[in-house]
Amino acid sequence: MPRILFLTPSGQQLAEIGAEPGSLLLDVAREHDIPLHWRCGQGTCGTCRVQIRHAQQPRMAGMSRKERNVLIRQGLLPESALSGEPLIDAPQQWRLACHLPVEEGDWVVIVPPME
Ligand code: FES
Repeated sequence: MPRILFLTPSGQQLAEIGAEPGSLLLDVAREHDIPLHWRCGQGTCGTCRVQIRHAQQPRMAGMSRKERNVLIRQGLLPESALSGEPLIDAPQQWRLACHLPVEEGDWVVIVPPME
């Protein structure tokens, strides 16, 4: 079972838990009372943004049009990302936890402070 380490941006550990591959990261965080801010749970508000670090980075990232649109609207992706071109999955890339299924490998998840 993959391990997920949740950290604050300053590196303070929030939790380390095991998660089933395929589970949505937001659901995992909610089940374990991780202070990950969210509102819609459907990929429209953009409040559940996180940064992911894992051993396979950098690699190409699959990202839905809906997720791209939200991140572009928030200024976290350039407009050019709408082209549908694959994006680089890198530690500084923002993702939406409600769109992100847990994978087989271990992750470090950086959780921004609540606004
Ligand atoms: S909770 Fe709204 S985009 Fe994820």
